[in-house]
Amino acid sequence: MRYLIITDLHSNLDALDAVFQAEAENYERVLCCGDVVGYGPSPNEVIERMIACEATVIRGNHDKVACGIDDTAWFNESAERAILWTRNELTASYQTFLRNLPAGPWVSSNHEFQLVHGSIIDEDQYLYDDGDAYDALKAATVPITFFGHTHLPCFFALNIHGDLISEFIDETTPQSRTTIRLEEGTRYLINPGSVGQPRDRDPRAGYALFDLDKRTVELKRVEYDIEAVQQKMERKGLPEYLIQRLAVGR
Ligand SMILES: [Fe+2]
Repeated sequence: MRYLIITDLHSNLDALDAVFQAEAENYERVLCCGDVVGYGPSPNEVIERMIACEATVIRGNHDKVACGIDDTAWFNESAERAILWTRNELTASYQTFLRNLPAGPWVSSNHEFQLVHGSIIDEDQYLYDDGDAYDALKAATVPITFFGHTHLPCFFALNIHGDLISEFIDETTPQSRTTIRLEEGTRYLINPGSVGQPRDRDPRAGYALFDLDKRTVELKRVEYDIEAVQQKMERKGLPEYLIQRLAVGR
């Protein structure tokens, strides 16, 4: 089975469609680690896509605020403005869709992998460093965990000897893809990077392809029409800071 792993779509339909088009023949199922909405201009359309492709989706912190499960206490000013606009824009049925999203971890039926938004221990925790990753990997009950929330493509691995390996994919490693070969006995935390608002200085949409049979995960990027999204955001009155950051990927 081949999976398309996506996270942090953030209402960016153009970026999402570019990913779907680039990989149309290369996966059978879609798995999403949350933050379907927030920041971007097309929340209803992005949810529509998730339903249409029968994606397995867990909730992110923006999804929780957009449907009223949580408040904006932890949001900065532009994130708050965008999520209040999103709340108003969402149809009643898509509000319900967000309210019904499960919290991570969502564990696959074969117990090979799981989805979380922030971390295994806490769905809202940001996983940036080796210490936090080590604690999370020690707590993992399945070999492979996909996560999001930081918008930074990276992976952490804890091998059978207790050694932690970590790698962030950024401008110092400018290749368009990175393949992780999954070793037996090693536990992994893998972030495919954000589809809709990358923050690693690469503005292209980030995602991963996971081949369970070949035991590989490819971290990949695809270009999309950023200007078209920026124009939509301007028309909807979304904050200038959010519009500008899409072009620089941070
Ligand atoms: Fe996010």
